[in-house]
Amino acid sequence: MTILVTGGAGFIGSNFVLDWFKSSDEPIVNLDALTYAGNLANLAALQGDARHVFVKGDIGDRALVDSLLAAHRPRACLHFAAESHVDRSIHGPGAFMKTNVEGTFTLLEAARAYWGGLQPDAKAGFRFHHVSTDEVYGSLKPDAPAFTETHPYEPNSPYSASKAASDHLVRAWHHTYGLPVVTTNCSNNYGPYHFPEKLIPLMIVNALAGKPLPIYGDGQQVRDWLFVNDHCSAIRAVLAGGRLGETYNIGGWNEKTNHEIVHRVCALLDELRPSAAGPHTRLITHVTDRPGHDRRYAIDARKIERELGWRPAETFETGIRKTVQWYLDHADWVADVQSGAYRAWVDKQYG
Ligand code: NAD
Ligand code: TYD
Repeated sequence: MTILVTGGAGFIGSNFVLDWFKSSDEPIVNLDALTYAGNLANLAALQGDARHVFVKGDIGDRALVDSLLAAHRPRACLHFAAESHVDRSIHGPGAFMKTNVEGTFTLLEAARAYWGGLQPDAKAGFRFHHVSTDEVYGSLKPDAPAFTETHPYEPNSPYSASKAASDHLVRAWHHTYGLPVVTTNCSNNYGPYHFPEKLIPLMIVNALAGKPLPIYGDGQQVRDWLFVNDHCSAIRAVLAGGRLGETYNIGGWNEKTNHEIVHRVCALLDELRPSAAGPHTRLITHVTDRPGHDRRYAIDARKIERELGWRPAETFETGIRKTVQWYLDHADWVADVQSGAYRAWVDKQYG
């Protein structure tokens, strides 16, 4: 038995791969294009481990995907690979259409051809697990109930529109061709190996460097935050017991404003790595808002809790403390990812 993971060198994918081998010896074939967001250093602990086969390549390369499926005969494909940053999608939506829409299409077609040729038992057991986001549902009013799985799709950014398109493709491949799919829509993740272009790791690395902490607009936008290992355990639960063709929302019941998040990160740094210059909140600056900025996301995770017994293990308090401590303990990793390309992005986005 083997599983195929796409995007397993990115933030969530690499956490998933590392987590997987803590409780399973089932091999993983990890297909990742190693874009700016992919980092083999995340997987350094698996160097020389025969259970992990890393393949550098694009999910849009049909011949490559076909050959991997034929050679490794996976029982499941877990599809994490994507362009994932909203701000980058505003500057350059093309890559999002290419990977998230066309890439998912290519992967679905390859999976369909492979699955169609399997023996009945293997065919019945095969799963295509599509990893998606709550952002496909659009923005909530302050008092509106949290997103359930039946909430209408109202994506507002090029990123969320491309993920919504990929969700629809996955749904259609099940409905039309019978491909055995499950889709999960998760809220904002945080934790180790998070690339410092996203809110939480950006604030940690900037604060440690004494640089400004840029809050978009009034900072009252709300996200639901989930520690990445809890997302990984939810994916394992859905892979093992999720009903075919279903979608499952995954969230941490942790709605927080960006303002609250940044203040919590600053307070933890004040405690764990105090600065002689004073409290880290002195670095907070309010900058121009993101165009089309979604005001609020919130996840109703009762379906996965009810059907699969999944619950997050971390509260926001325990998860954010572990995360800040991880960045303090991994200064080398932080220095390595802040390459010339990263600095170019920061200049483009923040001036
Ligand atoms: P990430 O940007 O950190 O990693 C994406 C990975 O995909 C990288 O390793 C990259 O090299 C790889 N990749 C990109 N294009 C590729 C291509 N064409 N072929 C092969 N590999 C390619 O993203 P992430 O935060 O780990 O997110 C993983 C998945 O989870 C995405 O599908 C994202 O939409 C979804 N998701 C993310 C969050 C979050 O908070 N980060 C929340 C919910 C859902
Ligand atoms: P982000 O981590 O990019 O995730 P997403 O846009 O997918 O939710 O951003 C989280 C929130 O933080 C979002 O409301 C935008 C805000 N934000 C800032 O205020 N400043 C920043 O520098 C960044 C990157 C994000």
